[in-house]
Amino acid sequence: MTKRVGFATRLGAIAAAVGSAVGLGNIWRFPYEAGVNGGGAFILVYICCILVMGIPVILSEFIIGRSTHSNMKAALKRLSPGKKYYLFTYICILGSFIVIGFYSVVCGWIIEYLYQAVQGSLSGHTPQEYSDMFSSLLESPLRCVGWTVLFLILNFVVMSRGIEKGIERVASTMMPLLFVILIIFCIKSLFLPDAGKGLRFLFYPDFSKLTMRGVLDAFGQAFLSLSIGISCLVTYSSYFKDDTSLTKDAATVAILDTLVAILSGVMIFPAVFSFGVEPTAGPRLIFEVLPSIFQQMTGGYIWALLFFLLVFFASLTSTISLSEIPITFLIEEHKLSRPRAIAWTALFTFALAVLAALSFNALDDVKLWDKNIFDMMDYAASNIFMLIGGLFTAVYVGWILDRKVVHDQLTNGGRLKGSAEPYLIFCLRYVAPVSIFFIFLYLTGII
Ligand code: PFF
Repeated sequence: MTKRVGFATRLGAIAAAVGSAVGLGNIWRFPYEAGVNGGGAFILVYICCILVMGIPVILSEFIIGRSTHSNMKAALKRLSPGKKYYLFTYICILGSFIVIGFYSVVCGWIIEYLYQAVQGSLSGHTPQEYSDMFSSLLESPLRCVGWTVLFLILNFVVMSRGIEKGIERVASTMMPLLFVILIIFCIKSLFLPDAGKGLRFLFYPDFSKLTMRGVLDAFGQAFLSLSIGISCLVTYSSYFKDDTSLTKDAATVAILDTLVAILSGVMIFPAVFSFGVEPTAGPRLIFEVLPSIFQQMTGGYIWALLFFLLVFFASLTSTISLSEIPITFLIEEHKLSRPRAIAWTALFTFALAVLAALSFNALDDVKLWDKNIFDMMDYAASNIFMLIGGLFTAVYVGWILDRKVVHDQLTNGGRLKGSAEPYLIFCLRYVAPVSIFFIFLYLTGII
């Protein structure tokens, strides 16, 4: 097996996992999913998902990765010799391609907005004009494909030069700055007229607005946001040192990730109500609302620039972690050189991303169940691949994996006291299978 090096510090390992988790899933997707699914009740279900499935699945991936210091396939082969569980790795690889396919299109939109911010053309418009601006971006195949391809080139250049660790370091110093900026925007947003209506929408749980689809979306959103279910955290934790507390690390990732998502909601919804945007606007929500917020601020030009730059870096650390899944797999399991593994990964990613970028314009009439290609990829990735993947991981660690491995990993071979093992095992053994059962009933139309 290729020689592996560990993260130099506990902070380095955590920063990389947080870097993977915090991204467009929190800032772009969480607010729009909350908007489409009625706000408060969705958020409550979301937080429950994080507690009963999110943290347990992060821990499960950490256990698989650190106990074997291997990628998913090698890890499952080692942990369950002679069994076919490792085949599940192929689902993870496919899932990671689909996520990066639609995700890089949104990263492309972020670069377009960064470009507009540099040019100063993001200010001086009405909310309607901001909405038209976003529509004109979507209608242009050249701009959509161009920005997406540019983003992917940047992503793979970073990876091929082996500077992703450098980027992660830069990004982890920028992450606290993103946090501070989000808080400043939240404060600005809270002082807008009608801000109270936005807060009420976000935090008042009106269960009459919650559907079974909303519950499924909350699960999918939690899994996408935490980067679980497609073995990303198995790959990262395979580099963890043996003396860090997995439970603490998992809780840190989940808490920071959820905080960024909630802050994004607090930034967006008061403004949504204040500027008269539809909360159910979907994927375009933040692109319609953010420019109006910047406009209200002194030095709006600088704020816009800084915000899109930080979001760009947050997205880049997420796509780096996503691309690392197939790359590590190809290097370790198929003995490809790193440049070759990157080239193959890039080829598949470009093909899927271009299809997703064209789904709002040239290919907008290609639809399945009323969803265009982008929406289908988004739905399939989070609500099917990551969800089923995460639940498989849960059932595997809860029911199949030797309990001694779980115990050793949680207590670092008996050195750590006060383990969360009973809680973990309960969630993995019972909540995960029951959830799978309900998702199956929902997807097959029985409920
Ligand atoms: N968690 C990332 C986000 O919220 O933007 C997206 C992501 C990264 C999903 C890595 C999956 C993954 F493996």
